[in-house]
Amino acid sequence: MKIIVASILSADENRLGEELAAVEKAGVDWIHVDVMDGHFVPNLTMGPGTVAAARRATRLPIDAHLMIENPDAFIERFAAAGATHISVHAEVCRHLNRTLSLVRAFGASPGIALGPASPLSLLEWSLEYVDYVLLLAVNPGFGGQEYIPNVLDKVRALRQLCAGRGLATIIQSDGGINAETIGDFSRAGVDAFVMGSAIFGSPDYTKTIRELRLLAENAR
Ligand code: DX5
Ligand code: ZN
Repeated sequence: MKIIVASILSADENRLGEELAAVEKAGVDWIHVDVMDGHFVPNLTMGPGTVAAARRATRLPIDAHLMIENPDAFIERFAAAGATHISVHAEVCRHLNRTLSLVRAFGASPGIALGPASPLSLLEWSLEYVDYVLLLAVNPGFGGQEYIPNVLDKVRALRQLCAGRGLATIIQSDGGINAETIGDFSRAGVDAFVMGSAIFGSPDYTKTIRELRLLAENAR
């Protein structure tokens, strides 16, 4: 089962509720909220308030991608706001396993996120404690960028690592995924495809999501 994830970074902020209702109706599986702090990444975006607003507008799972330097201080608030999935960057966590336990303790599903240049070795001893791994395919901060091709090798290596340990970890990739590239990500072993501009930049969400899902599922 492939998981289509809509990143609201590219949604119309003035019409967030309508945008969420539209992508839910169009068939996306999860909503992705990109939280940026201006320190870990060169941009500022949304916080728990946006997650709470999204929670009121959709029944879909809400996946908070915390691109922030001090996730421990905010996990409780994101979970209370209604995030069902919370990913934290291994690069910023001094005690990653503690942070992941915190996510679980507050009732959300924990994920580890890695930037495109960060090695898989960062998650080697934490993989058992997460439900998903987010491999960024772009340097984080902005939507609409082209993906860095070697992330596909990283996806394949992670797939092997999980298989070798008998883990059913969801592999999520984020950045530069669209109709032209989704097949490559799928073939490499991605389960959950985060897309911002490819979804919200399209004129017909239902048609776009149907096409993207078919491309992901039929990639060989
Ligand atoms: C990148 C974010 C992504 C972003 C992807 O910093 O983490 O979630 O929304 O945007 P697209 O799909 O446009 O590359
Ligand atoms: Zn993201």
